[in-house]
Amino acid sequence: MTTEIRVLDAEDDLIAAANLFRTAMVGFPPLPQLAPGQITTLLEPGRTLGAFVDGQLVGTADAVTSGLTLPGGAVVGHAAVTHIGVLPSFTRRGVATELIHHQLRDIAARGEVVATLRASEATIYERYGYGVAGSTQTVEIHTARAALRPDVGTGGAVRLIDAAQAWEVLPRIYAENRSSRPGTIDRPDVWWHGLRLRTESASRASYVALHGEPGSETGFARYRPVDSETWFVSDKRTIVVEDFFAPSAEAYLGLLRFLLGLDLIDSVTFWMLPVDDPLPWLLIDRRAARVTAVHDETWLRIIDVPQALSARRYEGDSAVTIAVNDSLLPTNSGAFTIAPSGAEPADRRPELHVGVEGLAAVLLGGTTWHALAAGGLVRAEDPAALTVADQLFAVRDAPYAGFFF
Ligand SMILES: CC(C)(COP(=O)(O)OP(=O)(O)OC[C@H]1O[C@@H](n2cnc3c(N)ncnc32)[C@H](O)[C@@H]1OP(=O)(O)O)[C@@H](O)C(=O)NCCC(=O)NCCS
Repeated sequence: MTTEIRVLDAEDDLIAAANLFRTAMVGFPPLPQLAPGQITTLLEPGRTLGAFVDGQLVGTADAVTSGLTLPGGAVVGHAAVTHIGVLPSFTRRGVATELIHHQLRDIAARGEVVATLRASEATIYERYGYGVAGSTQTVEIHTARAALRPDVGTGGAVRLIDAAQAWEVLPRIYAENRSSRPGTIDRPDVWWHGLRLRTESASRASYVALHGEPGSETGFARYRPVDSETWFVSDKRTIVVEDFFAPSAEAYLGLLRFLLGLDLIDSVTFWMLPVDDPLPWLLIDRRAARVTAVHDETWLRIIDVPQALSARRYEGDSAVTIAVNDSLLPTNSGAFTIAPSGAEPADRRPELHVGVEGLAAVLLGGTTWHALAAGGLVRAEDPAALTVADQLFAVRDAPYAGFFF
């Protein structure tokens, strides 16, 4: 079977690819009716790939140009990979592998330093060099028990805006208040367009609350009721907070108090909070908040290891030399000495050996070298080197993006 991979640019092809992805996902709603030309506002030109077998489109992969924050604050070129799907009648014949290899070489040719994605299954992407670099937690708060401690600050004013207005305002607030957390990503326009389309075509109640003075807001929350069929008489009225963008303490407190104080609401579910969110420490009764799930969020693929290693900041006071192996992008393979002052190619004997997927998992500080070694993803010549590496890669804030794409 010969598979031809090419960039899709005709409107019909892009719609066919979007529908193919939905067919592959099985449980996703169909693409809503689009206006002429609208598909080109939902996908970044030049980044949608199609895989053809005997002239038939059987697979697709897509990406969007973004930026990603590394520990220390540097923002590096980032491809946000999405819409990977193969028709169920053409799976397990190497189509996705060809698409993903093609895409990774394209990302490298563009000079982007990392790629990330959200994975539908945890067993697909490690073989391509992706590792889990950050996770999120889902937290459910029982509002009747959720009194805050007396010394918790008030935060600033919060106001609701018309959902239709939101799509002008939210991209500006997000861009103007970029978080310093590692793992933070830019949200390109095509995502806002897609989110708007999904929200509006779902035709259900949905609210947007903003924190801060009009024109200089510093955060927002998008939330909606769930299971609302028996809303009037229900004693379990629940809202889910789909998007909680509160990068400052003020915004966090203002929005949290607003959501917990909503009349009628018995339960507030935050879909995606950072794993180190301070919430339990704010509550008099910490069991008012229950973690109901922890999900891998950022699957990260280092495209340019020397650049990724030299752009991030390190802690601690000792150095370690690591050997990295990348069979797909071989210029990444080599030895690097990592010190508090930075990372450089090395000709010293390495103390740790890691595949590019293992390095991806520790790049943002979302896990430890010790944990990877326990799983066989790192081989240590001397166990003390793991401790040094963990000191170097430690971060203050757990990596987090807070967005599903
Ligand atoms: C995931 C998907 C794109 C893989 O496509 P594919 O063309 O079957 O993949 P390939 O034939 O190139 O398989 C590559 C390897 O991954 C493995 N693999 C692929 N999908 C897998 C899955 N869902 N679970 C476990 N292993 C998987 C294959 O067994 C193969 O392993 P091998 O190299 O050891 O033989 C396809 O199954 C699909 O469209 N799934 C539904 C949509 C989806 O989940 N997309 C991902 C969104 S993040």
